[in-house]
Amino acid sequence: MGKKKKCIGLIFGGCSNEHDVSISSAKTVFQAFNSKINKQRFKVKAFYINKYGDWLDSDISEQILINEIENNTTKTQGVFNQEKINFLDGIEFQNVDIWFPLLHGFNGEDGSIHGLLKFTRKPLVGCGIIGSALGMDKILMKTIFSNLKLPQVNYLVFQNEDLNDQEVKKKLTREIIKKLNFPVFVKPSNSGSSLGISKVINESEISQALEKAWGIDSRIVVEEGLEVREIECGIIGNSQLLTSEIGEVKYESVWYDYNSKYNLNNKITIPAEIDSKITKQIKEIAIQSCRTLNIFGFARVDFFLEKSSNKIFLNEINTIPGFTKKSMFPMLWKASGLNIEQLVAKLVDISLDL
Ligand SMILES: Nc1ncnc2c1ncn2[C@@H]1O[C@H](COP(=O)(O)OP(=O)(O)O)[C@@H](O)[C@H]1O
Ligand SMILES: [Mg+2]
Repeated sequence: MGKKKKCIGLIFGGCSNEHDVSISSAKTVFQAFNSKINKQRFKVKAFYINKYGDWLDSDISEQILINEIENNTTKTQGVFNQEKINFLDGIEFQNVDIWFPLLHGFNGEDGSIHGLLKFTRKPLVGCGIIGSALGMDKILMKTIFSNLKLPQVNYLVFQNEDLNDQEVKKKLTREIIKKLNFPVFVKPSNSGSSLGISKVINESEISQALEKAWGIDSRIVVEEGLEVREIECGIIGNSQLLTSEIGEVKYESVWYDYNSKYNLNNKITIPAEIDSKITKQIKEIAIQSCRTLNIFGFARVDFFLEKSSNKIFLNEINTIPGFTKKSMFPMLWKASGLNIEQLVAKLVDISLDL
């Protein structure tokens, strides 16, 4: 007799500015679990969280994944309304064996979903609360990387500042000009997909960029901008972390902003054409940085390679990387010998410590 199929609880959507990306990622993962080979081992129960934070039942959620209904329309809104204290009432999750949270950005990737799921006492794909929270917060992530003396671009941190006050804005502008060279990148500490980020080339643009970032998060990072190649490395594993091949992404725009991230004309090269010594160094830093932040399961570690000096800078770790067919993470693993069907099955095995 065959073994009982494992039920994967796929959580997607979410109250985040990366809601739509999450749906695309979940569609890919859903298909991969429903492939001929994986169907023998797994079944999927879908859990869609709409933009308002309401959890929708599995039938509606699955219909979104197979395009039968449009996501987040009024039809799906308020099925479980926010005022309900027991917001999971009506959500059937007893049969789930393993959670697969695919929520990008805040209210998910930041550790909140990991905290909630912990109470179900079921394993999950990905890391825990601490790693997720640190991976999402650029200020804390950078502070820890600085302590480890990992190579990073020069940066400043602004928090607890009232940007409604013109004098405060002037003070911050003076500090940026004094301590960093243009161009600079102004970023919300918590966001993703480049949302809220501006590339600033002179003093006159600083104020607007600060406001844009502040609109997303009152904690802001300002970084010295370099002319860079963008290099990414996948990791999977538990007690032992494995690195994928290294990839490079080239885009048509000036920097890797929201639109260019989801532009199908991007050129991805795997393995990236870089010196083998640098490749080795990138893989080592990828593992070291994940270990330090307690990140395991799966993640994508992003680097900058400065064009003029060929120096590496650690940019960030994404603990729930994009998972669409065109996303770097599955492509890196495909080039490393795991196609998408094998990859999702492997991630489940890792979560079960198999
Ligand atoms: N210091 C920098 N130098 C050059 N480009 C940068 C710098 N910081 C950010 N960028 C550009 O902005 C993009 C998004 O920045 P990132 O910090 O990775 O934000 P997100 O978490 O939204 O992906 C990068 O992929 C890169 O193209
Ligand atoms: Mg990034």
